Amino acid sequence: TAQYAVIGHPVAHSKSPIIHAAFAAQTGQRIRYDKLEAPLEGFIDFVAQFFAMGGEGCNVTVPFKEQAFAFANQLTERARQAGAVNTLWLDDDGVVGDNTDGVGLCRDLTRHINLAGKRILLLGAGGAARGAIGALLAEQPAQLTIANRSADKAITLAANFGGVSEGCGLPDLTGRSFDLVINATSASLAQAQLALPSGLFAPGALAYDMMYGQGDTPFMQQARADGAAQAVDGLGMLVEQAAEAFRLWRGVQPDTAPVLAELRASLA
Ligand code: ATR
Repeated sequence: TAQYAVIGHPVAHSKSPIIHAAFAAQTGQRIRYDKLEAPLEGFIDFVAQFFAMGGEGCNVTVPFKEQAFAFANQLTERARQAGAVNTLWLDDDGVVGDNTDGVGLCRDLTRHINLAGKRILLLGAGGAARGAIGALLAEQPAQLTIANRSADKAITLAANFGGVSEGCGLPDLTGRSFDLVINATSASLAQAQLALPSGLFAPGALAYDMMYGQGDTPFMQQARADGAAQAVDGLGMLVEQAAEAFRLWRGVQPDTAPVLAELRASLA
């Protein structure tokens, strides 16, 4: 039986073992997938030990994605762009690091919206935002505006990615509207609302929160109150990033829809 795990701190709440167990059952793969809590100051030793003990691959979550990036012997192009790694596996030349968050986000988004030609607003300029930008730009939006509480971080990020991206501060959004607004800040974790100008949502616009929880997140509530036609949480992104990791590890593409439906029902 091939061994996989998610490594984080904290990790007790992780739904990854349930998701990967469902993918394995669906595709007839024999795997074991655990959740492992690494010590805050000891990720590198911990993950090295995991592979030394026969682990074939792992997911890495908060707060270790940047350290996983440093640990990998080889990086995929999208991991390099993101500056963070959420998926590791062993190959003949060592440990490969990839980032499946961006593609996971876009696959979930395309359940609700066709991104080509759209005006996209990405809120936040931390790790979660950085992981999303390359994949969003690949979908050929008309424009990708990255807005952050600290404007300089958004401006630097946009300059690094180039293309149709631009960076600004939150007050600079006054008077502008978008077809899709994505929350990649950590404000929801603190149950805080974002200091956003009103009128951000064009007719029919979608609000997407990378966070999820029981019921609507604070950002989803805020977006609905400001006129978003639809508000969606990040549970689908979680399932899609996992499916991409599973495909890389096992060479088979799982069907995500039934797994997402099951997970959604278990949250209700
Ligand atoms: P992550 O890896 O989850 O992205 P991070 O790198 O710490 O975490 O980034 C957190 C992001 O959320 C940042 O963009 C942060 O804005 P600043 O760069 O200005 O700090 C944003 N953020 C967190 N709390 C926020 C709040 N209450 N209002 C607005 N933005 C917030």
